Amino acid sequence: MSNPETENFFNYYNPVNINFGFNKYYLLIKKIVNGNFKRAALFYGRESMKKAGVIDKIKESLDKCVINEYGGILPNPQVSDIEKFVSTCKESYDVIIAVGGGSVIDFAKSAAFLLPQNQSIRSILKDRPENLKNSIPFIAVPTTAGTGSEVTPWASLWDVTKKKYSLSHKKMFPCYAVLDPALTISLPAKVTAYTAFDALSHALEALWSKNSNPVSDVFAFESVSMFVNTYDKLMDNLSDPELRSGMLKTSLYAGLAFSNTKTAAVHSVSYPVTMHFNVPHGEACALLLGEFLLFNKDYIEKSKVDTLCNIFRVKNFSELKEKLANMAQNGGLAVRLSHAGIDADGIDIIVREGFSPDRILNNPRDVTKQDLYLILNNIF
Ligand SMILES: [Fe+2]
Repeated sequence: MSNPETENFFNYYNPVNINFGFNKYYLLIKKIVNGNFKRAALFYGRESMKKAGVIDKIKESLDKCVINEYGGILPNPQVSDIEKFVSTCKESYDVIIAVGGGSVIDFAKSAAFLLPQNQSIRSILKDRPENLKNSIPFIAVPTTAGTGSEVTPWASLWDVTKKKYSLSHKKMFPCYAVLDPALTISLPAKVTAYTAFDALSHALEALWSKNSNPVSDVFAFESVSMFVNTYDKLMDNLSDPELRSGMLKTSLYAGLAFSNTKTAAVHSVSYPVTMHFNVPHGEACALLLGEFLLFNKDYIEKSKVDTLCNIFRVKNFSELKEKLANMAQNGGLAVRLSHAGIDADGIDIIVREGFSPDRILNNPRDVTKQDLYLILNNIF
């Protein structure tokens, strides 16, 4: 007999204060910072936000705050670069702001978390201690619609051997997310496509994750619906504010879903595809998503499979796989490993390094090396 006391148990936690508005980023940041914080570190990426005047507009609006700028944060942040920043930083900040894609947000989120600690990043990655000091208040301002990092409690980091780490702690949730679709409006088609597929992968993996729960499911299905209603139209009209809004919400809702479930096999296998073959993260996810749909199909609740088929207006997951491949192709993404410059030796590398325990063990169906060879050969 079923026991409703245990079967109905679930927990969902996300403390991020979410602020959304079109062309309002500097006003939203000003409202959060002015009068509350006096010394800010402002992180951003290489060129685009500085050139577009976004960084200067934020600085002008924060006229009651002393701001130090840290521009030029590179994609796929290195553990050693964060270690260097934390050990050489002499300033005392009471707020940290990141304006950029997932890499900038993850770098700054790590810095905000590590600066107050008495332990090194390497010891935290190794021992995963629970009892740590609070992070410096952190404001995440995404300029792409895909990573969801503005609402998650972890950061993806790498080392020189191309190994991927996840720095993760419940105190790493940003305090504030400032989402402004206007910041994403000039993204080129291909970046728009692969970041959208990153968001879709987060939503689908949250849905079939072993950790899914009724609240994460609501966000994940809403994210998938937003993706379906937005993606094709957005690829035809990249400067449409409503469609950019829809894609930023796709990413936000996916982030709210997988912030509590983590991702699964698609993300696990995507990491070596990105690091060894320079395939952007979302494009690597898009490459793998269709095969894992079929691989996982019989291990996903039937009601979820049916709902997904309804949302995508397809009869079954085989049709869905085809549909996703066409959508990816329309966005200029590779749909076969060989198109992404990966050969048979590359498949060996991906199989060897594609088993990231936190992610692969979260997949609804166990994945063996033989399974992964079959999956990768199917998309070769
Ligand atoms: Fe991702």
